[in-house]
Amino acid sequence: MSALFQPFRFKDATLRNRIAIPPMCQYMAADGVANDWHRVHYPALARGGAGLLIVEATAVAPEGRITHGCLGLWNDTQATALAPIAASIKAAGAVPGIQIGHAGRKASANLPWEGDDHITDGNPGAWPTISPSATAFGANLPKIPRAMTLDDIARVRADFAAAARRARDAGFEWLELHFAHGYLGQSFFSVHANQRGDAYGGSAENRGRFLLETLAAVRAEWPENLPLTARFGVIEYDGRDEETLAEAIDLTRAFKRGGLDLLSVSVGFSTPQADIPWGPAFLAPIAARVREEAAIPVASAWGIGTPELAEAAVANGQLDLVMVGRSHLANPHWPMHAAKALKVERPTWVLPAPYAHWLERYRTE
Ligand SMILES: Cc1cc2nc3c(=O)[nH]c(=O)nc-3n(C[C@H](O)[C@H](O)[C@H](O)COP(=O)(O)O)c2cc1C
Repeated sequence: MSALFQPFRFKDATLRNRIAIPPMCQYMAADGVANDWHRVHYPALARGGAGLLIVEATAVAPEGRITHGCLGLWNDTQATALAPIAASIKAAGAVPGIQIGHAGRKASANLPWEGDDHITDGNPGAWPTISPSATAFGANLPKIPRAMTLDDIARVRADFAAAARRARDAGFEWLELHFAHGYLGQSFFSVHANQRGDAYGGSAENRGRFLLETLAAVRAEWPENLPLTARFGVIEYDGRDEETLAEAIDLTRAFKRGGLDLLSVSVGFSTPQADIPWGPAFLAPIAARVREEAAIPVASAWGIGTPELAEAAVANGQLDLVMVGRSHLANPHWPMHAAKALKVERPTWVLPAPYAHWLERYRTE
């Protein structure tokens, strides 16, 4: 029996299997508002059969967008546009999730296919960025951010809470806080981005403070019966990996005490000087370690997009959920592909009847 195709009951959310579609920015919004692109893209992916679909990184404040094309949840117009998308994901049988975040010093960038670099100050469309300290990421993102004041910190924390409230009201049933990938949450935790001398910098405890306070503010808004999760970079591959991992696991234990239900284990991406060992499922052993040492359910992504690797990660107890990203862009019916490869009986059951009926009857392969 396939481990990947076992349901996952988690609070009041039931995932039909262990396949999750991770957040993937589409860069197709205007003013942070979802449109026809998102209304077609998301339900089409959800119909493919995954148990969970997490809508792309959605900014809690205008300056927290990565690009002009990013979604937002800082006003009610944006929430109103997202509500039918949450409903359509749910109608397609997947749990509708959303990732909320703030891009910090990586904000104010051009679209990936238009350079993927900072729109530098003085150029049309650029906006000022904020971060724990006035230190640039570097490489293609050289813009120096403004160091956040305590008022900025309080405001962004409140922005996260307000976005969580809007996500809940829009019908999302799974919330992921974006504390990964060198954006604002990760930047507070990272020694590469945080050189503060106050209560938000220095020791690991201080560097975790903004994340824990944000979690608490969101926890107060997000229903107890629905999963509250975070994506967090627990390793940078920068030469101080054991230290970072130990600090990250400690912080994950604190997240758990603060009401976090699951951690999506990822890479920090806080420095261009990282030496990342890209390869199939390279992060799964790290995720398994977090799962074991912090005693929290975990999900993870990065190169687990073959049925065999995905099955093994769940069957071996490394991951509770497997995030399959780019393979879903290549084949929105990836779960059926996986079910066939894993010899699940009647693999077409993962598809809606208008597809499954014909594929079962007239299968030529
Ligand atoms: C087009 C694209 C957009 C992405 N956007 C996000 C995002 O919004 N939030 C996030 O946490 N990760 C984002 N990622 C990373 C993915 O969630 C995922 O971790 C990555 O694609 C690796 O998984 P894969 O090997 O299955 O594709 C993005 C990746 C891609 C390819």
